[in-house]
Order: sequence, then structure tokens, then C-alpha cells
Amino acid sequence: MTTLIAFVSQKGGVGKSTLSRALAREAAANGLSVKIADLDTQQGTSVEWHRRRLDGGVEPTISVEAYRTAEQALAQADRYDLLIIDAPARASEGTRRIAEKADLVVQPTNPALDDLQPAVLVFHELVKAGIPKSRLVFAINHVLTEAEEGAARLYLQDAGYTVLDGYIPSKTSYRDAQNNGRAITETRYPALNTKADQLIQSLINRVDADG
Ligand SMILES: Nc1ncnc2c1ncn2[C@@H]1O[C@H](COP(=O)(O)OP(=O)(O)OP(=O)(O)O)[C@@H](O)[C@H]1O
Ligand SMILES: [Mg+2]
Repeated sequence: MTTLIAFVSQKGGVGKSTLSRALAREAAANGLSVKIADLDTQQGTSVEWHRRRLDGGVEPTISVEAYRTAEQALAQADRYDLLIIDAPARASEGTRRIAEKADLVVQPTNPALDDLQPAVLVFHELVKAGIPKSRLVFAINHVLTEAEEGAARLYLQDAGYTVLDGYIPSKTSYRDAQNNGRAITETRYPALNTKADQLIQSLINRVDADG
């Protein structure tokens, strides 16, 4: 059985592609066969990253392919242990369809209230559409201080949702890594790699617990 994890959001630039790639990298390093389905065909962020990764000869290689819909991606997924959907922003209808198919829906968010409020609404809509809350989790990204991370975590938990342990600080080195076809767990700085990996491992643990 293929496990399907989807990264979704209403707001753009919150880290869907960043976390998709980090999860793929860590799952591949743990010996799983993994594929990223890049559903953002207009931007093709993960597809372009894959090209840079191949050019740079970065191991392990990770398979990335563009698809128009979750259904099309799933139709090809049986050869993989883990299918990761990197969804486009601002696609309510598409997000619902993806969520119906996914074992786990991860929504990255910035820690500012401007970002948290619409992020919570996205999950409320999915719950209204019948998606169990247990399949919805937040991931906090773009963090500048631990205080704002703590406040964001409380806000999301008060709204009734699970928040992955750990968070991703805002760092130029994470951008640099991705510019070079690497994941945020593959920067030149072991402490940053560990930080990113903590959040990714809490995601992997969650899937193991549910599956
Ligand atoms: N923690 C971070 N620190 C620094 N830069 C980050 C961090 N997370 C993401 N970025 C950068 O922010 C930008 C947006 O991230 P990403 O592409 O992962 O978001 P997205 O949700 O997939 O965006 P879109 O909605 O456009 O698909 C990228 O340039 C990425 O490198
Ligand atoms: Mg993206």
C-alpha cells in the first residue's frame, strides 16, 4: 500500500515545496521508495529542483514528476511506498479532492496571525467536507523567534488541530541548499539539518503511528 502525504495551503510561499522535498529526502534515506507529485504545474518548483539535484549529482536521487490532479498521480503510485503531493496554493476545490485521497494532509504556515487565521479556515473547510481532524496537521515554518513559534503553536492547538513537533527557522542557508538541489536537511550546517530533520521525523512518526 502506498502512503499518500499531501502538502497544501491557501497562502503561497509557506513551505509546501520545501517540506515536500525534505520529507522525500529523509524517507528515501530511510530506504523507502518515494515520489514527489508536483501538482503546481504552473510553477513546477519541485520539478525544477529535481533538475538541479540531478545536475549537481546529489544523492540519493529522488523521483519527481508533474501531474495535473491527485487522481493522475495516484494512478501511477503503486510502485512507491510513499507518494508526496506538492500542491498549488489557492486551490480550495483541488485541496479538498487531494485531502480526500491523502493519509495525512500537512499545512505549513508562517507564525504571524495574518497567516494563522486563513490557515485554520482551510482546515475548518476540510473538516466540514468530512475529512477527519486526525488526518490534518500543521507545520510551523519561517520562524524568527521561539516566542512567536510558541504563540503560533498555542493558537493552532486552541483551534483544535495537531501541530508537528519542531519547527523550521527562517534561514538563508535553507534557501541556498534548495538553490543547489538539496533539501533543508542537507545544508552545510549540521545544526540546521538537525533542526529541519526534527520536524520531518515527527511527520514520519505520525504516519507510522496511523498506518
Ligand atoms: N525556513 C525557511 N527559511 C528560508 N527560506 C525558506 C524557508 N522555507 C521556505 N523558504 C523559501 O521560501 C520560498 C517559498 O517556499 P516554498 O516554495 O517551499 O513555498 P510553497 O508553499 O511551495 O510556495 P507556493 O505556494 O508558491 O507553491 C522559497 O524560496 C523557499 O526557498
Ligand atoms: Mg510550491
